[in-house]
Amino acid sequence: MKLEAARERAAQLREELNMHSYRYYVLNSPIISDGEFDALMDELRALETEYPELKQPDSPTQRIGSTPSDGFEKVEHPAPILSLDKATQEGEIFAWHTRIAKLLPENTSPLSYVVEPKFDGLTVVLHYTDGLFTLGATRGNGQIGEKITNNLRTINTLPLRIPTTPNGPQPPGNLVIRGEVLILLQDFEKLNEKLAESGNAIFANPRNAAAGSLRQLDPQITAGRPLYLYAYSIVTTDGEVPTTQWETLEYLKALGFVIAEDVCRKFDTLEEVARYCVAMNEKRNQLPYEADGLVIKINDLAIQETLGAIGGRPRGAVAYKFPPQEATTTLLDVEYSVGRTGTITPTALLEPVAIAGVTVSRASLHNFDFIEERDIRIGDRVVVHRAGDVIPYIVGPIIDARAGAEQPISPPEVCPSCGEALVHPEGEVAYTCVNTTCPAQRVQKLIYFTHVLDIEGLGERTAEQLVERGLVTAPSDLYTLDREKLLELEGFANKKADNLLEAIATAKKQPFASVLAALGIRGIGLTVAKLLAQHFNSLDALATASEESLAGVEGIGPITAQNIKAWFSRKHNQEMVEKLRAAGLNLATGETGTPESADQPLAGLTFVITGTLSQPRDTIKTWIESLGGKITGSVSKKTSYLIAGEDPGGNKYTKAQQLGIPIIDEAALKTLGE
Ligand code: IVH
Repeated sequence: MKLEAARERAAQLREELNMHSYRYYVLNSPIISDGEFDALMDELRALETEYPELKQPDSPTQRIGSTPSDGFEKVEHPAPILSLDKATQEGEIFAWHTRIAKLLPENTSPLSYVVEPKFDGLTVVLHYTDGLFTLGATRGNGQIGEKITNNLRTINTLPLRIPTTPNGPQPPGNLVIRGEVLILLQDFEKLNEKLAESGNAIFANPRNAAAGSLRQLDPQITAGRPLYLYAYSIVTTDGEVPTTQWETLEYLKALGFVIAEDVCRKFDTLEEVARYCVAMNEKRNQLPYEADGLVIKINDLAIQETLGAIGGRPRGAVAYKFPPQEATTTLLDVEYSVGRTGTITPTALLEPVAIAGVTVSRASLHNFDFIEERDIRIGDRVVVHRAGDVIPYIVGPIIDARAGAEQPISPPEVCPSCGEALVHPEGEVAYTCVNTTCPAQRVQKLIYFTHVLDIEGLGERTAEQLVERGLVTAPSDLYTLDREKLLELEGFANKKADNLLEAIATAKKQPFASVLAALGIRGIGLTVAKLLAQHFNSLDALATASEESLAGVEGIGPITAQNIKAWFSRKHNQEMVEKLRAAGLNLATGETGTPESADQPLAGLTFVITGTLSQPRDTIKTWIESLGGKITGSVSKKTSYLIAGEDPGGNKYTKAQQLGIPIIDEAALKTLGE
């Protein structure tokens, strides 16, 4: 392609990709598939490689910053980035209001208020010039921050260019906005799991994780971290500014930023504000991020302006802080558990304590580095923190409360499950059991396998029993289970056994990428498995791929490549693969047996049978199931077809008629199955 044509195409691709990533990350409503998105991205990357002069700062290829960060130069903010006064109790909200009401002119019209979450993340200041994201900085001391533009560029919810959609509003020439960067709770848990699995230190909480990720000198590392941006105010602009905070939020949203829509509210009375604050405190654990309170803002921005600031805190807003989700209690003991890859995790056993209405008696101690760093001892009074549904964690000991009898904690030398000596490689945080027959690892591998493949009905206790009784050593042994074996287990009766067997059988329909992820190879979660599946198409191709070709796949590092090679070289893993193959799981992408494939024409369809058919019902049932369909006993909205034989029973027939469900005969069923 000639340079001019390439330039034009690159511009078009940038615009399209930015629009699609806005739809995907901000609106959660993509209109193209991941594959199509990747293809556009590949095309742009290829053009930019051929003509490096086409690289633009708003190019989506730059989200994965390739150039090192600017070593954190200092930048002066265009206006002071103020912090807020606090109200810790409902009463203090009214006290704040009384203070400011005195300062307002007599003829001020009735006030309205906007309430927003007070995100517990990192404040950032983002500059846009003619719609292009040109500079981003930390808050720093409020006057001067650090330039972290390249790191911020890696955040998918940060628009690189405004407008983000073809009909979005045109931005002003200069626009500086303020927002908060954080890590969503669910992503935080996943990030820590990933870090722990690769033997790295994990983060104590989402805020630390966000801070540590944002201030990385290498944007590549930042790019691998699930940072998220919420926008909430305009710092300066030369364009027309909204006159209220509520309109500001709407405007930021229209520009393509994420705002905390589910939580933000506008009220006309302070009583309603206070009621909302109290109600939100009850619901704080349902939020997808950590918020340490709510921010109450006078809606009218001119009034905020008139009120001015005192001691670097604006009078026109106040932070209502939720009561702390922390409590102190005594650390009674430490329990060690073995993960599926053999990593030993310490858990604190606590004297039960109530935190925000929930009794907590166990908390994460992260890892042994953390214990040593904080000098946590058994018998210590410790601070425990709880956020969302994330498992509570120990913040640290209260050194002043020590009586002298506290016992230091040292890592165990042998595996608590199998008694083998643990290994602790130089430079790694993890203590690991490398015994391949360790029962605890078997249990955890089995549980992991069932989670990834959506096999319901196999909890921890069942997994333990299956392993203890020798019924399962590797997850593939699930396919040797039958009703009789399951009935041996505690708590199993016919129905429960049948349900579990059905769930195990249904997993055969899971796509190759899920099966690959379920194998539990270090570093291969579902995302990486999808990449590998796309690239290698089959487990056999993956198993025989060289380390170089594995590491050549974008998104796969040399360590994961090594892990893959090592995994396939072990005999017991090869045996497991063969058992899974024999059981009929999908070990390749494409036509061979995925739900939509040619030999599963009834996949996704649910049938109900009524009346007498030409063959026994069981035979028909097996035939339908072999083609991917499902049979249920009664007609509901979810039924795809009612198969009516001779003398159809009244009930099912009438119900299907009422619900408008197609009623077919045996011949029509056969046609469907062809
Ligand atoms: S508004 C003049 N809104 O909490 C406006 N701040 O002490 C002042 N924060 O670090 C800030 N969420 O950056 C505002 N929805 C929100 C916020 C928020 C978190 C941060 C703020 C500052 C601290 C306040």
